Parts: sequence; structure tokens; C-alpha cells
Amino acid sequence: MTAPSPHAALLLDWYDRHRRRLIWRALPGERADPYRVWLSEIMLQQTTVVTVASYFAEFVARWPSVEDLAAAPLDDVLVAWAGLGYYARARNLHKAAKAVVERFGGVFPSDEETLRSLPGIGVYTAAAIAAIAFDRPAAVMDGNIERVLSRLFRVATPLPQAKPELRVLAAQLTPESRPGDYAQAMMDLGASLCSPRKPACAICPFRAVCAAAKVGDAETYPVKKPKADKPTRRGVAFWVMRGDGSVLLRRRPERGLLGGMVEVPGSVWVEGVLDLAHARAQAPLVAPWRVLDGIVRHTFTHFHLELTVLAATVRLGDAKLGIWTPPDRIGDYALPTLFTKVVRHALTRG
Ligand code: ADE
Repeated sequence: MTAPSPHAALLLDWYDRHRRRLIWRALPGERADPYRVWLSEIMLQQTTVVTVASYFAEFVARWPSVEDLAAAPLDDVLVAWAGLGYYARARNLHKAAKAVVERFGGVFPSDEETLRSLPGIGVYTAAAIAAIAFDRPAAVMDGNIERVLSRLFRVATPLPQAKPELRVLAAQLTPESRPGDYAQAMMDLGASLCSPRKPACAICPFRAVCAAAKVGDAETYPVKKPKADKPTRRGVAFWVMRGDGSVLLRRRPERGLLGGMVEVPGSVWVEGVLDLAHARAQAPLVAPWRVLDGIVRHTFTHFHLELTVLAATVRLGDAKLGIWTPPDRIGDYALPTLFTKVVRHALTRG
């Protein structure tokens, strides 16, 4: 065992004076209740401390123990959860409560590996519960703690590649004494002084040992890899009007982008300049196509898209081609935004 670093002593001294009062937190000298620790960590997974507070209070008033929660009808739990988002978390919460009762007689396991075998508990949550509820020296690391560590040691490796390196540092700094308070102190520091922008280094308990504070460049950590520029894909949308006034829509394949949603028919989307003849060959029917002025632009997570709209009027259109609908009923089909742009473009320029 290496000698303890000075970090834990500095941080715990600060925590004893500045700890946040949070409803799920045990008071100084009080024993933490694993049920409350687990419940709070699950609620905090994608939700802020402020939002969680009132939900947490309602849950523990209604279901004071893991047995109570396990015995509750799932629907009651889902209704009480409404507003916290991500219902899968609530389903897993209920499943995990049942598992704790059935597999462990209502007593939460204290080691990370067994905790991870419960639904909804991953690496971070298992470490947080082991540390906070059982005072185990588990290396707790979330986004805030990554930021604190990357500044303390001026970690030059960009995220996410730096994670293994940061995990080693987290483990090295975690003390044998008061690891639960240490984990919560790191959370509090990351949520307050060691903020992403304009960190308050002058009053930070780590100021004497923080490499970035010494250099004065804390705000540049954690280093992030610059996002690659999004490529631009191009293609064609086919606006087909039938003699009876209806237009052609169709359903996209179930798998892939916008899977199963209704679209204006189109060509495949490819990077590079648009090959109009090649795109036109993918039309749903043979027709005298007109190129409409202008371009429809849309941006997805990984690429920009530019669509040229080709319009044609046909006397008869086969029902097998897709969905023929009057333009004023298109709203019934919940088109993705891209295709509402195409419809607007076609109706104004067609
Ligand atoms: N964020 C996630 N877990 C937390 C905790 N136990 N206390 C404060 N903020 C948190």
C-alpha cells in the first residue's frame, strides 16, 4: 500500500466545512442507508440534483424500504417516476428492488461486482453505492470527477481515450479512510468550484496540488478531441402529384435512419456532387420530371443533407407505389422534419 496522497486530507477538510445538504445524504456521523443511496443514484443518472430532490422525497415517503418498493405494482412506480424520463430506469429500479428482496433477503450487496449484477447498476453506480453506502474504497468516476482529475494532473490525452488513465488516477487517490465522504466530496467539488467554465481555483481545496491551477489553464481540461467536420450527403426527393390531386408518400424500411417513418420518396443519399441522372433513375415511376428551384437542407447527427426536389404530375398512379394522400392530410402521417421541409418546398415551388 502506497502512502496516502495529500489530496484526500485536503478534500475531506473542505467537505467537512462545505458539504452540500442533500435529502438523500446521511448527516455527519450518521450511517448511510443503502436503499436511499441506491435510489438516489438511479434517479441522478440522467437528472439534476434539483429535480431529483422532490421525487426522492415522494418515493421514500411512499416506499420507505426496498421491500415496500418491491411489493408496489409496477404501474404505481411508473406513475410516480413520470417526469424523471427514461422509463427503462424505472422498470429496472423495480426489477432491482425485487431482486434485492428475492436474492439477498432485502439486504443490498456491498461489493461492486454483485451490485453490477442488479438491473440498472453499471460501473459508476456500483462504485458510488459501494463507496457511499458501505464506505468501500471504490474508485468513483463520473463526468464531473473526470474533469477534476484531468485538471489535477493536466492529463493531455483527450477524452474519451483518457478514461482508463483517469480511472487509474481515481483509484490511486481514493483513500482507505472515509472513501464514501471522499467520493461525495469529489462530486461536490465537480458540481461547484471545479466547474467546466471559470473554475474557482483561488478558493479550491486542491489549489496547492493542482497542476492546472498552478499553470493557470484549468479551463482547457479535460482535453476533448475536436469533432470531425460533418460530411454533406446529397440526393433527390420525388414529388409525385396524381390526377385526383393526391401526392405520393411511402414508409421507410424498419431498420436504419428514421426507420419505419413516412417519407416523400427519394433516391439514396451519397457524399460528393449530385449525379442527377443517376438519382432520377431511382424514381418510383417513369414521369416527366421537373427540377424545382432551390435545395432542401437538413442536418442529422452525423451528416448534413442537401436534397434537390423533382416534381411530376401523372394521370394515374398505382396504389402499390405507396400512400396516396391529399396534400392537406399529410399532417396525419407524422413526417420527420426533413420531409416536412420537402413538402413545404414542393408546395411553394411546385
Ligand atoms: N450525482 C450523482 N450522485 C450524486 C450524489 N450522491 N450526490 C451528489 N450528486 C450526485
